[in-house]
Amino acid sequence: MVTLEQFIADRQQEFERATGAFSKILRDIGLGAKLVSFYLRRASLAGFLGELGLTNIQGESVQKLDDMANRLFLNLLSQNPHIAGLASEEEEHIIQANPAGKYVVLLDPLDGSSNIDVGVPVGTIFSIYRRISQVGTPCEEADFLQGGRKQVAAGYILYGTSTLLFYTTGQGVHGFTLEPAAGEFLLTYPSVQMPSESSYYSFNDNQLHEWAPGLQKYVQDLHQRNRTAAKPQSLRYVGSLVADFHRNLLKGGLFMYPGTVKKPEGKLRLLYEGYPMAWLTEQAGGKATDGIRSLLDVEPKKIHQRTPLFLGPASEINRIAHFLTENVIVETA
Ligand code: AHG
Ligand code: MN
Ligand code: MN
Repeated sequence: MVTLEQFIADRQQEFERATGAFSKILRDIGLGAKLVSFYLRRASLAGFLGELGLTNIQGESVQKLDDMANRLFLNLLSQNPHIAGLASEEEEHIIQANPAGKYVVLLDPLDGSSNIDVGVPVGTIFSIYRRISQVGTPCEEADFLQGGRKQVAAGYILYGTSTLLFYTTGQGVHGFTLEPAAGEFLLTYPSVQMPSESSYYSFNDNQLHEWAPGLQKYVQDLHQRNRTAAKPQSLRYVGSLVADFHRNLLKGGLFMYPGTVKKPEGKLRLLYEGYPMAWLTEQAGGKATDGIRSLLDVEPKKIHQRTPLFLGPASEINRIAHFLTENVIVETA
């Protein structure tokens, strides 16, 4: 049995081994995950469900547990001496932590908020960058706007039938399962590879009529292929990115959240959701785009920027790019 802390400590290639910065940051994220997991399991009994009565910077209604997870992670991480600052999907502005810290952390503290009240899995997404502003001074927004390729670690926690923590530092994807009796994350997925064949697809098609014509044709093509495929692809979608992505990571499948005519930038956030999931996808052998461009190469302009998001096996993601750029005519049977 290898604990998360032991796994990190044993890996020479992780950044800042000498100071232990990474293990201390990830240990605090793991501690936050254990506490959030505990609160989520008690939520309906302890009256933590429902809306807080406020609207966040995303224009979305804040759930009590969104607020709880946000405050918990921010309080915990802002006390970590290695963290200079934080940005959260729930906060309008960046948050200063310790000027002596060399890193900044970005969070989607609770992902899948519409599922909290109905007992469906939710998650937390995180991403870590080395700051570019001078150590010893307050961090700056530029530290958070370096682009997806500059991430030094990224991962997610899934609060499901068990609590899982998956992360990458650019050496593959590693997964841990919380052993509640020991209160430890134990290594259960040493090296995760996304199957190259797509067995599932996950997208909300309620705005299909508003999607790019090429993408509508791709969906037609998907259903068309299913008619004759020996193993048709199946739909799986709960509306928690972490849960939908996690299934596709392990089983092989496409997740997409495209833009529409009215909202070309889509719904999901580039920094808190897009970049971390894109890097995990690439590290597991899959492909991540905004439909056409590699998502990690999309330039960030503001911290709450949204992006269309396409994650999955390369074959499926390439097919989508083909439909979007070539405007192929799909033959219907
Ligand atoms: P969040 O709860 O952090 O705001 O994210 C919700 C996101 C994401 O988890 C999911 O993929 C998507 O919203 C679902 O949106 P739809 O309900 O439009 O399908
Ligand atoms: Mn989210
Ligand atoms: Mn969220």
